[in-house]
Amino acid sequence: MNVYILTLFPGMFSPVVNTSIIKRAQEQGLVRIKTVDVRGFAQDAHKTVDDYLYGGGPGMVLKPEPVFEAVDWVKQELGRQPFVVLLTPQGQTLTAGLARELAHKPDLVLISGHYEGFDERIRCLADIEVSIGDYVLTGGELAAMVVLDASIRFVPGVLGDSDSALQDSFSDGLLEGPQYTRPAEYRGLKVPDILLTGRHEDITRWRRKEAIRRTLRRRPELLKVADLTFEDRCLLEQVINEEKANEARGDNRGRNQTN
Ligand code: ADE
Repeated sequence: MNVYILTLFPGMFSPVVNTSIIKRAQEQGLVRIKTVDVRGFAQDAHKTVDDYLYGGGPGMVLKPEPVFEAVDWVKQELGRQPFVVLLTPQGQTLTAGLARELAHKPDLVLISGHYEGFDERIRCLADIEVSIGDYVLTGGELAAMVVLDASIRFVPGVLGDSDSALQDSFSDGLLEGPQYTRPAEYRGLKVPDILLTGRHEDITRWRRKEAIRRTLRRRPELLKVADLTFEDRCLLEQVINEEKANEARGDNRGRNQTN
């Protein structure tokens, strides 16, 4: 997978692309990431990349020419048309599903917007506009990093354990359940007994049930669209009954943010 990041601030990406899993993915040849300095495609001696608004108004917006030129340069280098993503708070919200789709594009261009906006014609370059949430960042760079990070995890071979992306929250429409490591007890907080038994089938069932419980508690709307098996539905029914019984007993444990 080739990823080109078009930005006015290429330096922001160095720590992200040269650390941990993204760094390893490049070393293994699974992804090639290039940051492209849009300013390098400015048309004048002053390297101007933004300009005042036609019709008046505060601030400056990103000019179209350097961005169009930068995308042309990428196309020429690749010898084919990449899939172009424009980061903007007006785009469709990033989900695990979209990240997975992007991970299967052979050539991806991520265009980071300008903090005061961009010329409308830049939208013509994009196959898709993506937002990382309903808030406005000072630029599209952090959003591009989020899209890059979330997508790269789905590139086959990037995560050590080949199916760990499939066990993550959202990958099957549910939140991930609780996880524990040693020690078995810390400051009176105990690891659930079932996890210490070595009974793998029971443990798998418990994990699934707790993923369902956590989703029910925190994001019940996800359960309406999750792809649940018959066994999942039985577990959900058990969880609902247990939760009702807890409530009737006035047991509020697990209703806080740690569960
Ligand atoms: N640029 C500024 N805010 C953004 C957001 N929320 N998502 C994507 N790009 C952005």
